[in-house]
Amino acid sequence: MQIKGRVALVTGSASGMGRGTAEIMAQHGVKIVINDINQEQVDEVVKGIKEAGGEAIGIAADITKKDQVEAMFQKVVDTFGRIDILVNNAGISKDKGILKMSEADWDSVLAVDLKGVFLCCQAAIKFMREQNYGRIVNISSRAWLGGPGQANYSAAKAGVVGLTRTLALEMGKKGITVNCIPPGIIETAMWQALPEATKERLNQAQPTGKIGAPRDIARAVMFFASDEAGYITGQTMYVCGGKSLFANIG
Ligand SMILES: NC(=O)c1ccc[n+]([C@@H]2O[C@H](COP(=O)([O-])OP(=O)(O)OC[C@H]3O[C@@H](n4cnc5c(N)ncnc54)[C@H](O)[C@@H]3O)[C@@H](O)[C@H]2O)c1
Repeated sequence: MQIKGRVALVTGSASGMGRGTAEIMAQHGVKIVINDINQEQVDEVVKGIKEAGGEAIGIAADITKKDQVEAMFQKVVDTFGRIDILVNNAGISKDKGILKMSEADWDSVLAVDLKGVFLCCQAAIKFMREQNYGRIVNISSRAWLGGPGQANYSAAKAGVVGLTRTLALEMGKKGITVNCIPPGIIETAMWQALPEATKERLNQAQPTGKIGAPRDIARAVMFFASDEAGYITGQTMYVCGGKSLFANIG
């Protein structure tokens, strides 16, 4: 899979699966831009990648703010000369039943999980069009199929699927592919904090009998982001151990 030497920005990559994806891509020779809100956390991930022999820079920016997003992509191009791969990974959730969900709960989740993806796509595409090359991978969630208590999150992640399909059509003749990965449960800090009985129940609900790891997401991202995947666009590929086959169980 040809990906070495490409320049990739992964949003929300100071923790969880974004961090895992960025680290694994760096191991494959991708020049990585770590983005997240907190500068210290960004610096720590960049340091780790460099110590492991990889190439990385860090940019703290809030992806819900257009001016910060535009400045971030300008800095990437000033540093590396181009932006080949964008992984829209940053996301938050604020789960509540519909009658308890405040307007602020709705607005904040939609702002990060959908508007942030739009702003980053728009800023990246300005440069990718000039290059006539780009790979955009949007991280949605299996929850876009529907999840009780997740009206805001599910709506935002469903929006990401629609945005992916539309941008794939708009950018098809510009050498830019846009694809989407809805993960199922992935082992991040949130999972590790769950009670053992809950983990057991969730594992049992998986068709594969186990949940995924950040490396499972990283491999799928790298497939869509590779040179060879140029004829694949607008697609949604679940990485969820088969759980999407029965949307609402567990
Ligand atoms: N972990 C799972 O089981 C799972 C399942 C399905 C989908 N997802 C999705 O995968 C992505 C990563 O999830 P994770 O579990 O690794 O979460 P995480 O909380 O570990 O990482 C998300 C990162 O996004 C950053 N972030 C939040 N708001 C931001 C903003 N405005 N600007 C820049 N960065 C911001 C956070 O600081 C954090 O570091 C999210 O989009 C999430 O919705 C996760």
